Amino acid sequence: MDKERKLIIAGNWKMNKTVAESLDLANGLVRELKDVTEVDIAVCPPFTALSAVSEAILDSNIRLGAQNMSEHGYGAHTGETAAGMLKEFSTRYVILGHSERRQYQRESDELVAAKAKAAHETGLKPIVCVGEQLEDRESDRTEEVVGSQIRGSLAGLTAGQMEGTVVAYEPVWAIGTGKTATSAQAQEVHAFIRNLLGDIFDEDTAKRVRIQYGGSVKPDNARELMSQPDVDGALVGGASLDVRNFSEIILNSI
Ligand code: PGA
Repeated sequence: MDKERKLIIAGNWKMNKTVAESLDLANGLVRELKDVTEVDIAVCPPFTALSAVSEAILDSNIRLGAQNMSEHGYGAHTGETAAGMLKEFSTRYVILGHSERRQYQRESDELVAAKAKAAHETGLKPIVCVGEQLEDRESDRTEEVVGSQIRGSLAGLTAGQMEGTVVAYEPVWAIGTGKTATSAQAQEVHAFIRNLLGDIFDEDTAKRVRIQYGGSVKPDNARELMSQPDVDGALVGGASLDVRNFSEIILNSI
C-alpha cells in the first residue's frame, strides 16, 4: 500500500499480561514481524512489563509505548509515572487521553494537553486519543465532540510538536464491542480532523500528522480501513494481545 504518510500500528495491551506473558507476546511479535519495514510498529504493555518488553524488542523494528503518564515531572505524586521514568526504558510513544481514562479517571482535554506538552518536552511522542460516544453519533454531534477534543487536547503544542504527535480516532462505541466504524465513517472523521488541524496549525503540519483509527480493528478489516486516504494506522486493543492477530493486522495492512 503506497501512502504519503508511513502507517503506524500500535498495540494497546491495556491492563493485561503478566511479565512472563508480555515476554511471550513480545518475543512472538519480534519473530513474526522482523521483515516489516513499511509500517512503524509499537507495543504498549502495562507499566509493570515495560522493562522486560523493552529488552525483548531492543534490536527489533518494534518500538515501545506506554499507556499513560503524569503531566508532572519527578516529585511528590504518589502512584504516578513521570515521562522521564518512561524514557529510561527507551519508550518512544505514550498513549494519552484514551477514552477509558477520560471516562473512568475523569481525564479532561486540559489534562491531556498538559500531558502531551510534558511528553514532548521529555522527547516522547504522544498518541492522543479522541472519539465520540454512541449518543453523540446518534444525535449528529460527532464533529462537535471530536472537534472540541482535538482543540482542547492539543492546545498549546507548537506546529513542530504537533507533527510529532499521533492522533488516534477511536469512536467509543467501537472499542471492545466488535462494532467497527465502516471505512467510510472512519475516513469522514479522519478528514475532518486533518482539516481542523490545518485550521489550528497549518496545512503542511496537518498533512504530516498521522491519524490512527481504533475500535475493534481485526485482521479481516485492517486492510480496508488502512486503504482510506486519511487513515494512517491503527491503535489496536483486544486483537493486539495475540501474536497471530496483531501480526496479521500489520501484514494485511502493507
Ligand atoms: P479494541 O480497543 O481494539 O479492543 O476495540 C481499541 C483501543 O481501546 O485502543
